[in-house]
Amino acid sequence: MKLLVTGGAGFIGSNFILYWLNNYPQDKIINLDKLTYAGNLENLKKVEKNSNYTFVKGNICDAEFIEGVIREIDVIVHFAAESHVDRSIREPSDFVMTNVVGTQVLLDAALKNGVKRFHHISTDEVFGSLNLNDSSKFNERTNYNPRSPYSASKASADHLVRVYYYTYNLPITITNCSNNFGSYQFPEKFIPLAITNILENKKVPVYGDGLYIRDWLYVEDHVRAIDLVLEKGKIGETYLIGGMLNNISNIDIVKKILKFMDKDEDYIEFVKDRPGHDRRYSVDWSKIKSELGWQPKYDFEIWLEKTIDWYKENEDWWKKIKTGEYSKYYQEQYGQT
Ligand code: NAD
Ligand code: TYD
Repeated sequence: MKLLVTGGAGFIGSNFILYWLNNYPQDKIINLDKLTYAGNLENLKKVEKNSNYTFVKGNICDAEFIEGVIREIDVIVHFAAESHVDRSIREPSDFVMTNVVGTQVLLDAALKNGVKRFHHISTDEVFGSLNLNDSSKFNERTNYNPRSPYSASKASADHLVRVYYYTYNLPITITNCSNNFGSYQFPEKFIPLAITNILENKKVPVYGDGLYIRDWLYVEDHVRAIDLVLEKGKIGETYLIGGMLNNISNIDIVKKILKFMDKDEDYIEFVKDRPGHDRRYSVDWSKIKSELGWQPKYDFEIWLEKTIDWYKENEDWWKKIKTGEYSKYYQEQYGQT
């Protein structure tokens, strides 16, 4: 089988490629990535010499370029996106371009070239925000209600993917997953930002009252779920993927990280809240569990400790990022270095 992975130099895409070539060494993968600030080929060092792996630098919005790489592709796994909510609030246009227009360009190319499966990676953020004090969860029937430029662009992309199925019979599947964490996550996102700041002896910025809740999914559990959807998922269907059974607030996550790292709570710094900050996400992942037999391998705490260890052992990887262009963003976002 020949797969085109878009955004394969990013966090989840690179974890997917490493997993796939390990489990299906006979398959061929083309990794198509624009290498924005979030794309990092160092994530793929383990496979760069593998003859079944090819990297192609390019933009998913460029239809002519896509035509050149899509021939003889069986499956597209579409990760490429602008993915950070805070950046989308500062500068929405790149989000609309890549996440909406780029997805439509890929869908067109997939249709013209008879691709057998277009799998689209989306987010639970398209469903909006849940109340803090009830037990409601998102499921496959929840209405869309995006509330940030990022989630609005992902929602638009999801609609387009479904339209290509209903209108043109393109064989699609969609997964909407919750917040991922694990190895190779860019340290602008909450968990790696917290871990690496503590390793640098810096404070951890916690937005607002810190009582916001996300549904945390370990990246390896996520890529296993995508594998199952590619193998056994029904064409035209959507599957939600989450990692938690209980709610945990951002502040409690920082406290857990500090405890695992043997540090006191002086590292916590409450900072200005994010505008339009969604209160709570929680995913009902019973459909993928009952239909495809998926569930997270371990509890959140076990994966969190493993993630802390990864960042401790891979200082070279994240230090390069934190001293580069990212330090300017950090200064602008948090007003500190
Ligand atoms: P990421 O930001 O780490 O990586 C995105 C990758 O896409 C980068 O390598 C970047 O260079 C590439 N890219 C961006 N614009 C491109 C373009 N125009 N053409 C080609 N490549 C381009 O993102 P991630 O965290 O790995 O997320 C991957 C996917 O999963 C995204 O679609 C995101 O919306 C979705 N998702 C992520 C999370 C999460 O917690 N990280 C949660 C839910 C859904
Ligand atoms: P983030 O990792 O940006 O993911 P998303 O916004 O897509 O959920 O943020 C996760 C949660 O952590 C979210 O509630 C915002 C909060 N947060 C902080 O409190 N401080 C930070 O510095 C960041 C980046 C996020």
